[in-house]
Amino acid sequence: MFDFRPAPDCPKPEAYRQLRDAAEALTADEPDGVANMANIAALLWDFLPDLNWAGFYRMVEGELVLGPFMGRPACIRIPLGKGVCGVCAQDAATQLVEDVHSFPGHIACDSVTNSELVVPVVRDGAVIAVIDLDSPLKARFDAEDQAGIEALAAMLAQRI
Ligand code: SME
Repeated sequence: MFDFRPAPDCPKPEAYRQLRDAAEALTADEPDGVANMANIAALLWDFLPDLNWAGFYRMVEGELVLGPFMGRPACIRIPLGKGVCGVCAQDAATQLVEDVHSFPGHIACDSVTNSELVVPVVRDGAVIAVIDLDSPLKARFDAEDQAGIEALAAMLAQRI
């Protein structure tokens, strides 16, 4: 049994350090990328409040394909450049979207989603996956969330 949750009053940068340490420990001895993504999706879900979806899309033959996640069933394939995830993957750039309803081409997998943070996972200069976090709250994510998930993505690049 693992319980990695941070204390409720823990400042965000410290909580993200703990999240990265937990992710590092969970994936350290496991070469299977799917197993590692599954555990990281569960860890994100456990760790971060106010999410309705947390997981991975993987780059497969030039498009994003659904990977391990927590939340409701989601769209399976996303072309590069489409929606928040597709733009993230195409530009290899984090997308922090305070209000998805004003993001051109947003793909509404779940109508309760109001804000999103999507971070690329880059290995050897290529995007191999994206981490997608969705929230029912508007402007749920800020620069500290972005920095925390980018640090996680950098660590995971060799483990998924
Ligand atoms: N957020 C995505 C679609 C995937 S689901 O939200 C799980 C997008 O607009 O790219």
